[in-house]
Amino acid sequence: MNARIYMSSPDVGDLEEQYVVAAMRSGWIAPLGPDVDAFEREMADRIGVAQAVALSSGTAALHLGLLGLGVKPGDIVITSTMTFAATANAIVYTGAQPFFVDCELATGNMDPGLLRQAIEQATATGSRVAAIVPVDLLGKAVNYTAILEIASEFAIPVLSDAAESLGALHDGRAAGSFGQASIISFNGNKIMTTSGGGMLLTDDVELAARTRYLATQARQPAVHYEHTEVGYNYRMSNLLAALGRAQLTRLDSMIANRRAMRDRYRALFSNVEGVSIFGGAGDAEDNCWLTSIVIESDKTGWTSNELSGALMAGNIESRPLWKPMHLQPVFAEANVVANGNSEFLFGSSLTLPSGSALKPGEIERVLDAIGAFVRSRSE
Ligand SMILES: Cc1ncc(COP(=O)(O)O)c(C=O)c1O
Repeated sequence: MNARIYMSSPDVGDLEEQYVVAAMRSGWIAPLGPDVDAFEREMADRIGVAQAVALSSGTAALHLGLLGLGVKPGDIVITSTMTFAATANAIVYTGAQPFFVDCELATGNMDPGLLRQAIEQATATGSRVAAIVPVDLLGKAVNYTAILEIASEFAIPVLSDAAESLGALHDGRAAGSFGQASIISFNGNKIMTTSGGGMLLTDDVELAARTRYLATQARQPAVHYEHTEVGYNYRMSNLLAALGRAQLTRLDSMIANRRAMRDRYRALFSNVEGVSIFGGAGDAEDNCWLTSIVIESDKTGWTSNELSGALMAGNIESRPLWKPMHLQPVFAEANVVANGNSEFLFGSSLTLPSGSALKPGEIERVLDAIGAFVRSRSE
C-alpha cells in the first residue's frame, strides 16, 4: 500500500529544528521567554496590528477574546454556521449562546444580509448580542467591508476568527487585522504551525493586557500569587514560539506552494463540466490554505462521496467542507438564519490534499488518481 497522503501535513524541516534547539539551549524551557515576546512582535508587525498575544490554541484565543469583549452568560454571539466546532464551542465556554448565520454560496463566508436578519431577530426577543464572530473559511477573508458596517450600525464588537486565513487579504489589508480583535490558529494542519497554538491580535492595548492576564491564571502582581478572579493556563510555551518564528520566515513560500497546488487542481478540472474550484473566481487575496471543489453531480454523473472513495482506495485523504454548525446534534437547539447554502456545500464539496510539504511524487499521485477516476466515469 502506498504511504498515506494527508490534506495538510505540517511543513517543518531544518530551520525549525535550528530554532527549537537554540531555544532549548538558551535555557528558556519554562513557559514564556524571549521567543514568545519576539514571536508576538513579529506576528503583530506582519499583520499590521499593535498587539499580539501568543496562546496555547486558537480555541483559547477565541475564548479569551470573547471574555475580553465582555461576553457574559445569557448573551447571544452571532457566528458563521460554516465553521469548525471550535468557534461555537468557545462561545459556549463563556455561557453565551451561539446564533448561526448561513453563507454566501461562492465563498462559504457569512452572508452580510443574513447577519442583519440575525441581529434583528435576536434583539427582537430582548437578548443582548454581545459579539459577532465571522469566520474566514479555508483562507478566504469574509466581506469585512459589509460585515463591519453592519456591526458598527448596531454597535456590536467583532472578533474575527482568522484561524484559517493567516496571510490572506481583504481589499489589500491583512486578515487578522479586522474588527476589535482577531484570532489565528497554529494547529498542525494550518498554513503555519507551532504544533499546537494560537494568537489573539488587536490594536486595543487594554484588551491585549487583559488577555495576557487571564491566560496566566489571572495572577495579580504580587510575589505570593494573589488572585481576585478565575483565570486560565492558556499561554504559549517558549519552545513552541521558537518553532512559530521559524515557520513565519517561511510563510510566504508555504503560501506559494499551496497556491501552486490550487493552480494544478484548477488546470485539472478546467475541462470537467460540473466541477468548480470553491471560493469564487478570484483567489489572489486568499492564502489557499485548503483547496475544495464543488461538484454538481447532475452534470458530472458522480458525487463527492464517490470521488472521495476512489481517493481513499489510493490512501489519499479528502473531506467535505465543514458540516454546518446548525446541523450538528450538539447545537440542534441553537438559533439559526439559514438559506440552504451551507447545507448544499456540505453535501457537494470535497477538500483535497493542499499542504505545502507535498512532494512532487505525492502531487502526481493525487492528480493521477483524480484524473483516472474522472476518466473512468466519463467513458
Ligand atoms: C475556523 C477555526 N476556528 C478555530 C479553530 C481552532 O483553532 P485551534 O485548533 O488552534 O484551537 C480552527 C482550527 O482548528 C478553525 O479552523
